[in-house]
Parts: sequence; structure tokens; C-alpha cells
Amino acid sequence: MFKRTRRLRRNENIRSLVRETKLSKEDFIYPIFIKDGENIKEEVQSLPGIYRYSIDRLEEILEEVERAGIKGVLLFGIPKEKDNCGKDAYYDDGVVQRAVRKIKEVSKLYVITDICMCEYTDHGHCGIIVDGEVDNDKTLEYLEKIALSHVKSGADMVAPSDMMDGRVKRIREALDREGYMNIPIMAYSAKYASAFYGPFRQAADSAPKFGDRKSYQMDPANIREAMIEIAADIEEGADIVMVKPALSYLDVIRWTRDRFDVPIAAYNVSGEYAMVKAAAKLGYIDEMKIVMEILTSIKRAGADIIITYHAIEAAKYIGGRQ
Ligand code: PBG
Repeated sequence: MFKRTRRLRRNENIRSLVRETKLSKEDFIYPIFIKDGENIKEEVQSLPGIYRYSIDRLEEILEEVERAGIKGVLLFGIPKEKDNCGKDAYYDDGVVQRAVRKIKEVSKLYVITDICMCEYTDHGHCGIIVDGEVDNDKTLEYLEKIALSHVKSGADMVAPSDMMDGRVKRIREALDREGYMNIPIMAYSAKYASAFYGPFRQAADSAPKFGDRKSYQMDPANIREAMIEIAADIEEGADIVMVKPALSYLDVIRWTRDRFDVPIAAYNVSGEYAMVKAAAKLGYIDEMKIVMEILTSIKRAGADIIITYHAIEAAKYIGGRQ
């Protein structure tokens, strides 16, 4: 006697009955780059199919996202001017603040904003520089202001991605103090110092002008440290924790799923998207099959939410299959 595991693989009907992981369009969050200016829709060279939009051109992408059945978007701003303290990040009329107001006016989408400084600082680091280093506690003052300004503009959730210590606590306290106790925080908790962010930095013009992000983002070799970060963020008040990037960090997602009970988001980042697009363009892979396999693996590893540039095409693909 041997075990005939092939019995349950004989045709698609039985395979779909025993399928353990099913992707759905509700799993996805779509990232959007918003550039200050007028009449802008420019493709990001390293992210084919992904554009930077000015606020007056946003509606076309919002409609596409809603039509695909995606419920949430994650916003990144590209300001007109950068300075050493990233003023545009917390200014009431900053590009993200205006974009949030516009999106809430014209759509029903759930709006999440990325809380960080690197797109707004002239040096490209995620915080305030003091004596040549990113100063943790000084940066917290700014992160708090950024988060509050986004929420005042109508953001439904904030997502701090800076990796400063204590930011979740600081933002939670500020939101509660100002009466926003119902606004959740999705913390980029296990965010690695990854080369997979390259295309994003091109899209947002946010590469550091000196040094790198290794003194605040995590070492890709570490997983126990990720558990410490996640436990700290939950303790400080994070409602959802994130693992980023996703694909080279499926083990981190799985450890997080096994150890913590909060919802987990995984960020299928720009470099992961760019590799698929490049190989597909060369005809080396079947793009949609690869995309679905990647997204399924992220969910199978334990993610509840997947932030992905593939969201629209994947949602359409899932819709067409049913
Ligand atoms: C901001 C931020 C980055 C990404 C999301 N938020 C860039 C970085 O940390 O350098 C990367 C997302 C992606 O690569 O798709 N700190």
C-alpha cells in the first residue's frame, strides 16, 4: 500500500475543492505615487504600468482601482521641493494632504498614507540629520506631525515606514490626544534594508544622497530581530504589522503568523514587481501565472493583506477566472 496523493489532483473541480489558499481581490492594497504639479501622468521607467499622477489626474486611476474591486490604496507623495526637514510632509497643503482630501471626495476607497520623510528631505534619509546621523528622537517629533496632518485631511489609516524606535507609541498618543482614537496604525515593523526598493526610490526620487539606510532598516540576515520589532510595535499600539519586502522574506511572514495574532500585511515591493515585468517583457516567463503564484505564496506564508503594484491586474485576473 502506498498513499495515492494524486487522487485529489485529477481535475480542476477537485483541485479547487481542496485548495488551501485562495487569493481574493479583497486581499490587495494598491500603492499610488502622487506628484505635485498639474496634468501629470508619467510612467515610472523601472515600473512598467505604474505612473506618477498629479492630483488633477488622479480620478482615472481611482476609478480603475474601484472597478477592479480593490478596497484600499496606499499613498506616496512626491513634493515640488525638498528640504532638510521635509516640510512638505507635514504641511496642511502638502501633496499627500491635498490628495487625501480629493480621494475622499471622489471615491469610497480606504485611504492609507505612508508616514516617512525620505521622499521629502533633500538628503533622502527617513529622518532628521543631526551630526551626520539620522536622529531618532528628533525624527519622532516630525513623524507625529506628518501623521496628524494626514489624518486631519481624512486618511483612514496611517502606515509609518521610517523604522525609528518608538514611532508607533508616539503616533498613537498624538492621534488619541487629538481625538483620532479610531484611526488604526499599520506599522512597517519588519522592514529590511533591501535592494528590492531600488525602483521605488527612482519613482519617488528618494534615494539617500549619502550613506545608506542600514542604521535604521533591518539586516536581511536577521529573523529573531524581526520578532523583537514586531512585538515592540504591537506593544506600542500597532493594529496591523507589516513585513517588507515579501518574497525573499516569506519565512519572516510565517514566523510572524505563528507567533502573533494581529493581522499581517506583506509588501510585495517595487523590485519584486520590476523583475517580473522585465522577465515577462523578454518572453522568459508567463507573467500572470507567475504573478498569481507569487501572490499565493505570500498569502500561504501567512499574510492577510498584500500591498502590491500587481493589484489591479491580479484582481481583474481573479475576477475573470470566476
Ligand atoms: C519609504 C518607503 C520605501 C518604500 C515604501 N516606503 C522606500 C525605502 O524605504 O527606501 C519602498 C516600497 C517599494 O519598494 O515598493 N521609506
